[in-house]
Amino acid sequence: MIMAPGLRKFALTAHVTCSIGWFGAVAAFQALAIAGLISQDREMVRATSLTMEVTTWFVIVPFAFASLLSGIVSSLGTKWGLIQYYWVLVKLLITIVATIILLVHTQPIDLLAEVAVKTTAFSADFRREQIQMVVASSAALIVLLVLTTLSVYKPRGMTRYGLHQLREQRQEVATVGAAMSKLHEIVQPPEGSKIQPTNFTEDDLVTPKEALQ
Ligand code: HEM
Repeated sequence: MIMAPGLRKFALTAHVTCSIGWFGAVAAFQALAIAGLISQDREMVRATSLTMEVTTWFVIVPFAFASLLSGIVSSLGTKWGLIQYYWVLVKLLITIVATIILLVHTQPIDLLAEVAVKTTAFSADFRREQIQMVVASSAALIVLLVLTTLSVYKPRGMTRYGLHQLREQRQEVATVGAAMSKLHEIVQPPEGSKIQPTNFTEDDLVTPKEALQ
């Protein structure tokens, strides 16, 4: 069902806020991960680990789910649909995979925070996890940048399902158009009426999709 313009803008505002918020939160996470990795100050390392855990659970994870959910709403409530255009389908798949990978990474993040809480010294044993955090957040930033670029450029390609839907819509419009032309042939406007009969041809027909684009 297509959303009314006001509702669509509201949904889009929520979607862009969550999606770009996700990007911003990962950028902040990356800064903390790098600071924790290169710092010689043990207190600093512990502080970054604890802050990374809070940022993950209270900002990054909620934004990831909100972006996915609001993206699905924006897709189903607009002409784009969920599986009609490749750019939307690719975004959906990448976002689902990115969210799963994020949830997997919450384990080493929790581990680092647990070590920071339990010990005053931060041993070098956790260097592997610290490096993993920097690498993972860098990869996430690249993926989120790709998703943002896809959203703004919106490449035109349609899926097979999308093309099938479009053909069906064209057929429906053509049938209605033909019926209206027939009606105009039969029903003549009363003398002196300003309404003039119209002869529709298929070329005059525009599908709702085309009218919106
Ligand atoms: C991190 C993931 C995502 C990011 C960074 C992102 C980013 C954006 C941005 C910046 C826009 C605004 C583009 C514009 O209006 O010019 C947008 C729109 C849109 N996004 Fe996303 N998005 C993400 C996930 C998703 C998902 C998972 C879906 C669908 C399953 C989705 C579907 C859409 C649709 C349909 C629009 C257009 C809405 C409209 O025109 O009203 N997005 N996205």
